[in-house]
Amino acid sequence: MTIAPQDFFPQIADWVNQLDDTFPGAWIKPYFAQWEVGHLLSLALLGGASLLLNLRLIGVGLTDDSPSEVRRSVLPWLNLGVIGILVTGVLIGTSNPERLYTSEAFTAKMLGLAAALILTYGVSLPAAKQDGRLGRNASIAAAIGLAFFGLSVGVFAVAKLVNPGLWHVITAAALLVLFVTRGLTRIIYLAALVALMATQLAIHHLIYKPDDYAHLDPANKIMILVYLALILAAAGVQIVSSGRGPQGAGPATKALAYAAILVWVTTAAAGRWIAFA
Ligand code: HEM
Repeated sequence: MTIAPQDFFPQIADWVNQLDDTFPGAWIKPYFAQWEVGHLLSLALLGGASLLLNLRLIGVGLTDDSPSEVRRSVLPWLNLGVIGILVTGVLIGTSNPERLYTSEAFTAKMLGLAAALILTYGVSLPAAKQDGRLGRNASIAAAIGLAFFGLSVGVFAVAKLVNPGLWHVITAAALLVLFVTRGLTRIIYLAALVALMATQLAIHHLIYKPDDYAHLDPANKIMILVYLALILAAAGVQIVSSGRGPQGAGPATKALAYAAILVWVTTAAAGRWIAFA
Protein backbone atom coordinates (compact mmCIF):
# COMPACT_ATOMS: atom_id res chain seq x y z
CA MET A 1 0.00 0.00 0.00
CA THR A 2 1.38 3.43 -0.97
CA ILE A 3 0.08 6.88 -0.03
CA ALA A 4 -0.12 8.35 -3.53
CA PRO A 5 -3.22 10.15 -4.90
CA GLN A 6 -4.01 7.06 -7.05
CA ASP A 7 -4.59 5.04 -3.86
CA PHE A 8 -7.23 7.48 -2.56
CA PHE A 9 -8.90 8.47 -5.84
CA PRO A 10 -8.73 5.37 -8.14
CA GLN A 11 -11.98 6.43 -9.87
CA ILE A 12 -10.32 9.49 -11.54
CA ALA A 13 -7.51 7.47 -13.23
CA ASP A 14 -8.97 7.84 -16.77
CA TRP A 15 -9.48 11.58 -16.35
CA VAL A 16 -5.89 12.03 -15.06
CA ASN A 17 -4.41 9.97 -17.92
CA GLN A 18 -5.90 12.18 -20.65
CA LEU A 19 -4.96 15.52 -19.05
CA ASP A 20 -1.72 15.94 -21.01
CA ASP A 21 -3.51 15.27 -24.33
CA THR A 22 -6.06 18.04 -23.86
CA PHE A 23 -5.99 21.79 -23.12
CA PRO A 24 -4.16 23.19 -21.14
CA GLY A 25 -1.83 20.23 -20.44
CA ALA A 26 -1.04 19.55 -24.13
CA TRP A 27 -0.37 23.25 -24.67
CA ILE A 28 1.94 23.58 -21.63
CA LYS A 29 3.91 20.34 -22.25
CA PRO A 30 6.47 21.68 -24.81
CA TYR A 31 7.17 24.64 -22.49
CA PHE A 32 7.32 22.64 -19.22
CA ALA A 33 10.76 24.02 -18.26
CA GLN A 34 9.71 27.65 -18.79
CA TRP A 35 6.59 27.21 -16.65
CA GLU A 36 8.62 25.44 -13.97
CA VAL A 37 10.91 28.51 -13.83
CA GLY A 38 7.76 30.55 -13.09
CA HIS A 39 6.92 27.99 -10.37
CA LEU A 40 10.32 28.49 -8.71
CA LEU A 41 10.31 32.30 -9.06
CA SER A 42 6.92 32.32 -7.33
CA LEU A 43 8.47 30.17 -4.59
CA ALA A 44 11.28 32.71 -4.14
CA LEU A 45 8.72 35.52 -3.85
CA LEU A 46 6.44 33.82 -1.37
CA GLY A 47 9.38 32.37 0.57
CA GLY A 48 10.99 35.81 0.98
CA ALA A 49 7.71 37.41 2.03
CA SER A 50 6.97 34.60 4.50
CA LEU A 51 10.47 34.87 5.98
CA LEU A 52 10.25 38.64 6.54
CA LEU A 53 6.79 38.35 8.11
CA ASN A 54 7.51 35.39 10.39
CA LEU A 55 11.02 36.50 11.39
CA ARG A 56 9.48 39.79 12.54
CA LEU A 57 7.03 37.81 14.70
CA ILE A 58 9.97 35.82 16.10
CA GLY A 59 11.65 39.13 16.91
CA VAL A 60 14.41 39.50 14.31
CA GLY A 61 14.79 41.12 10.88
CA LEU A 62 12.76 44.27 10.21
CA THR A 63 12.47 45.19 13.88
CA ASP A 64 12.34 48.94 13.20
CA ASP A 65 8.81 48.37 11.91
CA SER A 66 5.96 46.89 13.96
CA PRO A 67 4.67 43.42 12.90
CA SER A 68 1.52 45.06 11.47
CA GLU A 69 3.63 47.41 9.32
CA VAL A 70 5.74 44.49 8.06
CA ARG A 71 2.52 42.60 7.28
CA ARG A 72 1.18 45.53 5.23
CA SER A 73 4.43 45.78 3.22
CA VAL A 74 4.84 42.07 2.42
CA LEU A 75 1.18 41.08 1.87
CA PRO A 76 0.93 41.98 -1.86
CA TRP A 77 4.17 40.08 -2.61
CA LEU A 78 3.08 37.10 -0.55
CA ASN A 79 -0.27 36.98 -2.36
CA LEU A 80 1.44 37.29 -5.76
CA GLY A 81 3.83 34.44 -4.89
CA VAL A 82 1.03 32.17 -3.66
CA ILE A 83 -1.18 32.84 -6.71
CA GLY A 84 1.84 32.37 -9.01
CA ILE A 85 2.87 29.05 -7.48
CA LEU A 86 -0.69 27.68 -7.53
CA VAL A 87 -1.36 28.70 -11.17
CA THR A 88 2.01 27.45 -12.48
CA GLY A 89 1.74 24.30 -10.31
CA VAL A 90 -1.69 23.36 -11.70
CA LEU A 91 -0.51 24.07 -15.28
CA ILE A 92 2.69 21.98 -15.07
CA GLY A 93 0.66 19.37 -13.20
CA THR A 94 -1.79 18.99 -16.10
CA SER A 95 1.13 18.51 -18.51
CA ASN A 96 2.68 15.69 -16.44
CA PRO A 97 -0.30 14.26 -14.55
CA GLU A 98 0.63 10.57 -14.14
CA ARG A 99 3.78 11.52 -12.28
CA LEU A 100 1.79 13.42 -9.64
CA TYR A 101 -1.01 10.83 -9.50
CA THR A 102 1.44 8.07 -8.59
CA SER A 103 3.68 10.16 -6.31
CA GLU A 104 3.75 9.88 -2.51
CA ALA A 105 5.90 13.04 -2.45
CA PHE A 106 2.96 14.83 -4.10
CA THR A 107 0.64 13.69 -1.28
CA ALA A 108 3.11 15.09 1.29
CA LYS A 109 3.32 18.26 -0.77
CA MET A 110 -0.45 18.85 -0.96
CA LEU A 111 -0.86 18.21 2.80
CA GLY A 112 2.03 20.64 3.35
CA LEU A 113 0.40 23.20 1.03
CA ALA A 114 -2.86 23.02 3.01
CA ALA A 115 -0.91 23.45 6.26
CA ALA A 116 1.15 26.31 4.80
CA LEU A 117 -1.93 28.22 3.63
CA ILE A 118 -3.69 27.74 6.99
CA LEU A 119 -0.64 28.69 9.09
CA THR A 120 0.13 31.72 6.89
CA TYR A 121 -3.35 33.14 6.23
CA GLY A 122 -5.03 31.87 9.40
CA VAL A 123 -2.26 32.42 11.95
CA SER A 124 0.79 34.53 10.96
CA LEU A 125 -1.00 37.29 9.04
CA PRO A 126 -3.79 37.80 11.64
CA ALA A 127 -1.25 37.65 14.49
CA ALA A 128 0.97 40.23 12.74
CA LYS A 129 -2.07 42.46 12.13
CA GLN A 130 -2.59 42.48 15.91
CA ASP A 131 1.15 43.05 16.54
CA GLY A 132 1.76 39.53 17.80
CA ARG A 133 -1.46 38.74 19.68
CA LEU A 134 -3.08 35.39 18.89
CA GLY A 135 -6.87 35.65 18.67
CA ARG A 136 -9.32 32.76 19.18
CA ASN A 137 -9.76 32.09 15.45
CA ALA A 138 -5.99 32.14 14.93
CA SER A 139 -5.58 29.57 17.73
CA ILE A 140 -8.13 27.26 16.09
CA ALA A 141 -6.40 27.74 12.71
CA ALA A 142 -3.06 26.95 14.41
CA ALA A 143 -4.37 23.61 15.70
CA ILE A 144 -5.74 22.63 12.26
CA GLY A 145 -2.61 23.88 10.44
CA LEU A 146 -0.27 21.98 12.76
CA ALA A 147 -2.35 18.80 12.32
CA PHE A 148 -1.95 19.04 8.51
CA PHE A 149 1.76 19.85 8.94
CA GLY A 150 2.16 16.70 11.07
CA LEU A 151 0.37 14.61 8.45
CA SER A 152 2.58 16.02 5.70
CA VAL A 153 5.79 15.23 7.60
CA GLY A 154 4.40 11.78 8.48
CA VAL A 155 3.76 10.92 4.81
CA PHE A 156 7.16 12.38 3.84
CA ALA A 157 8.86 10.26 6.53
CA VAL A 158 7.36 6.91 5.48
CA ALA A 159 7.48 7.37 1.69
CA LYS A 160 10.23 5.11 0.33
CA LEU A 161 12.93 6.82 -1.82
CA VAL A 162 11.37 10.17 -0.90
CA ASN A 163 12.11 10.42 2.83
CA PRO A 164 15.75 11.60 2.42
CA GLY A 165 14.12 14.88 1.31
CA LEU A 166 13.38 15.54 4.99
CA TRP A 167 17.06 16.43 5.37
CA HIS A 168 16.25 19.67 3.49
CA VAL A 169 13.73 20.53 6.19
CA ILE A 170 16.15 19.72 9.02
CA THR A 171 18.89 21.76 7.31
CA ALA A 172 16.57 24.74 6.87
CA ALA A 173 15.44 24.49 10.51
CA ALA A 174 19.06 24.28 11.70
CA LEU A 175 20.05 27.38 9.70
CA LEU A 176 16.94 29.30 10.73
CA VAL A 177 17.61 28.71 14.43
CA LEU A 178 21.30 29.59 13.94
CA PHE A 179 20.25 32.88 12.35
CA VAL A 180 17.77 33.72 15.10
CA THR A 181 19.71 32.73 18.25
CA ARG A 182 22.12 35.17 19.88
CA GLY A 183 25.10 35.18 22.28
CA LEU A 184 26.02 32.09 24.26
CA THR A 185 23.00 30.09 23.05
CA ARG A 186 24.21 30.55 19.47
CA ILE A 187 27.79 29.51 20.29
CA ILE A 188 26.75 26.36 22.21
CA TYR A 189 24.20 25.48 19.54
CA LEU A 190 26.73 25.90 16.70
CA ALA A 191 29.31 23.79 18.56
CA ALA A 192 26.71 21.03 19.08
CA LEU A 193 25.72 21.17 15.39
CA VAL A 194 29.36 20.86 14.29
CA ALA A 195 29.83 17.91 16.70
CA LEU A 196 26.77 16.17 15.22
CA MET A 197 28.01 16.72 11.67
CA ALA A 198 31.45 15.32 12.60
CA THR A 199 29.76 12.29 14.19
CA GLN A 200 27.71 11.71 11.06
CA LEU A 201 30.79 11.98 8.86
CA ALA A 202 32.55 9.41 11.06
CA ILE A 203 29.52 7.06 10.90
CA HIS A 204 29.55 7.26 7.09
CA HIS A 205 33.28 6.96 6.47
CA LEU A 206 35.04 5.46 9.51
CA ILE A 207 32.56 3.29 11.42
CA TYR A 208 30.65 1.90 8.41
CA LYS A 209 31.46 1.75 4.70
CA PRO A 210 29.67 4.48 2.64
CA ASP A 211 27.56 1.80 0.86
CA ASP A 212 26.67 -0.22 3.97
CA TYR A 213 23.01 0.84 3.85
CA ALA A 214 21.89 -1.88 6.26
CA HIS A 215 23.71 -0.02 9.03
CA LEU A 216 23.64 3.53 7.65
CA ASP A 217 19.84 3.75 7.16
CA PRO A 218 18.96 3.19 10.83
CA ALA A 219 21.96 5.28 11.96
CA ASN A 220 20.78 8.22 9.81
CA LYS A 221 17.23 7.89 11.16
CA ILE A 222 18.58 8.18 14.70
CA MET A 223 20.79 11.12 13.67
CA ILE A 224 17.85 13.06 12.20
CA LEU A 225 16.01 12.69 15.53
CA VAL A 226 19.07 13.89 17.46
CA TYR A 227 19.41 16.95 15.17
CA LEU A 228 15.69 17.61 15.64
CA ALA A 229 15.98 17.48 19.44
CA LEU A 230 18.92 19.92 19.37
CA ILE A 231 17.16 22.35 17.03
CA LEU A 232 13.94 22.26 19.09
CA ALA A 233 15.89 22.83 22.30
CA ALA A 234 17.77 25.83 20.87
CA ALA A 235 14.57 27.29 19.40
CA GLY A 236 12.86 26.76 22.77
CA VAL A 237 15.63 28.65 24.58
CA GLN A 238 15.41 31.49 22.01
CA ILE A 239 11.62 31.70 22.30
CA VAL A 240 11.63 31.82 26.10
CA SER A 241 14.72 33.99 26.62
CA SER A 242 13.85 36.67 24.03
CA GLY A 243 10.70 37.58 26.01
CA ARG A 244 7.82 39.57 24.64
CA GLY A 245 9.32 43.08 24.42
CA PRO A 246 7.47 46.10 23.09
CA GLN A 247 5.35 45.33 20.04
CA GLY A 248 6.45 41.71 20.31
CA ALA A 249 4.81 38.34 20.00
CA GLY A 250 4.41 35.87 22.88
CA PRO A 251 6.01 32.39 22.95
CA ALA A 252 3.08 30.65 21.21
CA THR A 253 3.08 33.13 18.29
CA LYS A 254 6.85 32.81 17.97
CA ALA A 255 6.72 29.01 17.91
CA LEU A 256 3.97 29.18 15.28
CA ALA A 257 6.04 31.64 13.23
CA TYR A 258 8.88 29.07 13.11
CA ALA A 259 6.35 26.46 11.96
CA ALA A 260 4.91 28.86 9.36
CA ILE A 261 8.36 29.23 7.74
CA LEU A 262 9.26 25.54 7.87
CA VAL A 263 5.94 24.35 6.50
CA TRP A 264 6.70 26.11 3.19
CA VAL A 265 10.17 24.52 3.19
CA THR A 266 8.57 21.09 3.73
CA THR A 267 6.14 21.70 0.86
CA ALA A 268 8.96 22.81 -1.43
CA ALA A 269 11.18 19.86 -0.43
CA ALA A 270 8.35 17.43 -1.17
CA GLY A 271 7.87 19.22 -4.53
CA ARG A 272 11.52 18.68 -5.39
CA TRP A 273 11.38 15.00 -4.41
CA ILE A 274 8.48 14.28 -6.79
CA ALA A 275 11.24 13.94 -9.38
CA PHE A 276 13.19 11.29 -7.43
CA ALA A 277 10.51 8.73 -6.62
C1 HEM B 1 -1.49 23.30 -6.66
C2 HEM B 1 -0.27 23.27 -6.20
C3 HEM B 1 0.93 22.70 -6.89
C4 HEM B 1 1.04 21.83 -7.94
C5 HEM B 1 -0.09 21.17 -8.72
C6 HEM B 1 2.45 21.63 -8.20
C7 HEM B 1 2.97 20.86 -9.21
C8 HEM B 1 4.30 20.63 -9.44
C9 HEM B 1 4.86 19.79 -10.49
C10 HEM B 1 4.04 19.06 -11.53
C11 HEM B 1 6.20 19.81 -10.37
C12 HEM B 1 7.21 19.07 -11.25
C13 HEM B 1 7.48 17.74 -10.64
C14 HEM B 1 8.43 16.91 -11.49
O1 HEM B 1 8.02 16.52 -12.58
O2 HEM B 1 9.54 16.66 -11.02
C15 HEM B 1 6.53 20.64 -9.25
C16 HEM B 1 7.83 20.86 -8.81
C17 HEM B 1 8.13 21.64 -7.73
N1 HEM B 1 7.25 22.33 -6.93
FE1 HEM B 1 5.23 22.41 -7.13
N2 HEM B 1 3.16 22.40 -7.32
C18 HEM B 1 2.28 23.05 -6.49
C19 HEM B 1 2.60 23.87 -5.43
C20 HEM B 1 3.89 24.09 -4.97
C21 HEM B 1 4.24 24.83 -3.79
C22 HEM B 1 3.23 25.54 -2.88
C23 HEM B 1 5.59 24.78 -3.65
C24 HEM B 1 6.49 25.40 -2.62
C25 HEM B 1 6.18 25.74 -1.43
C26 HEM B 1 6.12 24.02 -4.75
C27 HEM B 1 7.46 23.75 -4.95
C28 HEM B 1 7.97 22.97 -5.96
C29 HEM B 1 9.38 22.67 -6.14
C30 HEM B 1 10.54 23.16 -5.26
C31 HEM B 1 9.48 21.84 -7.26
C32 HEM B 1 10.76 21.23 -7.83
C33 HEM B 1 11.25 21.99 -9.01
C34 HEM B 1 12.49 21.28 -9.56
O3 HEM B 1 13.57 21.59 -9.11
O4 HEM B 1 12.35 20.43 -10.42
N3 HEM B 1 5.05 23.61 -5.54
N4 HEM B 1 5.37 21.13 -8.70
